[in-house]
Amino acid sequence: MTLPPASTIGIVGGGQLGRMLVMAAAHMGYKTHILCEDENSPASVVSTFTTVASYTDEAALKRFASCVDVVTFEFENIPPASLELLQATTIVHPSPKVLATCRHRVREKSMIRDCGIMTASFIGVKSLTELKHAVEMMGTPCVLKTCEFGYDGKGQVKIESDDECEAAWNTLASKDTILEDWMKFEREISVIVARDVAGNTRCYDPVENIHRNHILAQTNVPAILPDEMAKDACNIAIKLAETLDLVGIMAVELFVMKDGSLLVNELAPRPHNSGHWTIEAAATSQFEQHIRAICGYALGYTTTLIPCTMLNLIGDEVLNWKEYAQNPKAHLHIYGKADIRAGRKMGHVTVLEKV
Ligand SMILES: Nc1ncnc2c1ncn2[C@@H]1O[C@H](COP(=O)(O)OP(=O)(O)O)[C@@H](O)[C@H]1O
Ligand SMILES: [Mg+2]
Repeated sequence: MTLPPASTIGIVGGGQLGRMLVMAAAHMGYKTHILCEDENSPASVVSTFTTVASYTDEAALKRFASCVDVVTFEFENIPPASLELLQATTIVHPSPKVLATCRHRVREKSMIRDCGIMTASFIGVKSLTELKHAVEMMGTPCVLKTCEFGYDGKGQVKIESDDECEAAWNTLASKDTILEDWMKFEREISVIVARDVAGNTRCYDPVENIHRNHILAQTNVPAILPDEMAKDACNIAIKLAETLDLVGIMAVELFVMKDGSLLVNELAPRPHNSGHWTIEAAATSQFEQHIRAICGYALGYTTTLIPCTMLNLIGDEVLNWKEYAQNPKAHLHIYGKADIRAGRKMGHVTVLEKV
């Protein structure tokens, strides 16, 4: 079934990804309803409706579900039980099961391995004693991460030698962690895959991602890769989307190793920062594609129309907007966050390389 225009799309989460989903939905004639925990979120200022409530407020969740025609989410830190509650009343895409797998690093990596796809070696760790054993088995350097709630490098500590275990354990202050082998990758790429209700898939070109201070700083489009490797990356993304029975879009972050092998780092079953370039430079933006998938449209073409670079405006960098405003190749996106904070994603700019 295709959701008719003027229907209402519920979006759980109020950040910039929600904001850009709202704008894509609006140009297709849909209303939107944001459910988020903060007043004046980047998404709610552009959305038709907003409910401000805790993601565990059952009454609010039920009310929200009864006013929308389909629900999606723009971040992963929602309790899967809350999505299940929504699903009792309305359609939820991607499914609560996809969320439950992708929001937990051990479950996520285990699923990827079960598909026969490579990841860094990892061990689930639930105590300091387990951590010491795991570091002994894996060797250093390695990285300890919380299984849930990590983003932009938050919730992870690199361990360079055995005697750093206790400090790392105390820093994370979590009993549900994952130890990963530290991979000396050559570069980082990502692929965005879309899958519709009927199971058709389309992939965007792989892009190269450059991080600074563990935060995505720059995406180069397309990644310069051998054709075979680009194809392999897309096939990995498609296989994962099919295994998860995904409806919507999903980003797959990969490490490219020196020997040319590809390891999956993590998955995000939602629009992704490394896909923002698609707004100007792909036939269909990742945001429209997600709305298309969850509303029962055919997927749009994912062709790259023009090579480009996406630069995140982090913290004070947003103050450089004037410089970009005078550049005809630059497309500014400012998220409307009230306070500038170090490390906070305030906006991004897509710079078209060739016109
Ligand atoms: N096992 C690893 N080996 C080497 N680098 C890593 C590893 N895990 C993460 N990193 C680096 O840290 C960045 C952030 O880690 P990631 O697991 O993607 O968490 P998040 O993006 O949720 O903060 C990665 O993009 C990569 O640069
Ligand atoms: Mg990541």
